[in-house]
Amino acid sequence: MAVKFVIQRFDSEKDSAPRMEEFNLEIPKGATLLDCINLIKWEQDGTLTLRMSCRSAICGSCAMRVNGHARLACKTQAVDVVTDNKVVIAPLGNFPVIKDLVVDLEPFWASLERIDPWLKPNESVKWERERLQTHDDEKLIDDASTCILCASCYSDCNVMEVDKNYMGPATLAKAQRFVFDTRDVKTKERLDQLNELTGIWDCTHCAECSTRCPTDTKPLARITELKARSMEHGYSNSAGSRHVLAFRESIPGKYPGTGGGLINENYIPPRSLGFFNIPALIGILPVGIRMMIRGKMPPLLPHTIEKFDEIKRMFGRFKEYLK
Ligand code: SF4
Ligand code: SF4
Ligand code: FES
Repeated sequence: MAVKFVIQRFDSEKDSAPRMEEFNLEIPKGATLLDCINLIKWEQDGTLTLRMSCRSAICGSCAMRVNGHARLACKTQAVDVVTDNKVVIAPLGNFPVIKDLVVDLEPFWASLERIDPWLKPNESVKWERERLQTHDDEKLIDDASTCILCASCYSDCNVMEVDKNYMGPATLAKAQRFVFDTRDVKTKERLDQLNELTGIWDCTHCAECSTRCPTDTKPLARITELKARSMEHGYSNSAGSRHVLAFRESIPGKYPGTGGGLINENYIPPRSLGFFNIPALIGILPVGIRMMIRGKMPPLLPHTIEKFDEIKRMFGRFKEYLK
């Protein structure tokens, strides 16, 4: 199959802006995207720069954006990403580019370091050889342990794009690996940190990280586990955790006027921001005014849905489950 590879070129030492360059290549049968880029490098332009090592989806170094989304080039069959006889290749997003497809991963490593990504066991307990776990204990951290640090999730995370201080999906997934490790004794310190600004509650649940992750790590699922664990440990004083509680209170109508089986949009924002957080409440006032002008304001007293009793029963069972 003859295909046009459109590859982003940029040399941070010479160029002021990136440019796109086209290469034509006949894709050999069974070739991965990495094979194709290597063929272009070896046969057409030796200056084309990329990172790679294992060629078997283990080292994580060949991650790049393919048709706008992060992928491992060595784990991608080239023919699978051809659209209109074309493949568009660019470096990972959310990183400074050094040269062509090579990015500066320093912010990724720095983010990872923030959570002390190593086991902190009870040192007073002496083991003869190694610290053992049961199989069930290991299953709690099994998915997060498959992370190959390819940074695909970091590249495509929407929050990362607007807030470089956000810990990012891989770091949070790694944090889950230690919070849920039954041998680690620093759970409180870890959860304290994760519940601060830039931690778990800043995730917007877009799921892009899990979609792009080439392993079972699936960061969004790990972040959700961390949120649940935080709530179990009583972390309920962040806007994110209050938002969760606002839903839990609104739908079953926990307080008068909160909601009769429905989300009460008048209750959720002040409950999430804090009823006495005057500056934040003033900050969302323009949104409320715009909603009012456009007739989108929900009724002040929410109506009760027909099968409200069923909803209440569901929440009752949920409460039992949480005990
Ligand atoms: S789900 Fe959260 S961490 Fe994952 S990409 Fe979206 S905002 Fe980022
Ligand atoms: S979580 Fe997945 S996408 Fe992110 S660095 Fe690890 S393996 Fe790569
Ligand atoms: S070359 Fe190692 S993951 Fe692709």
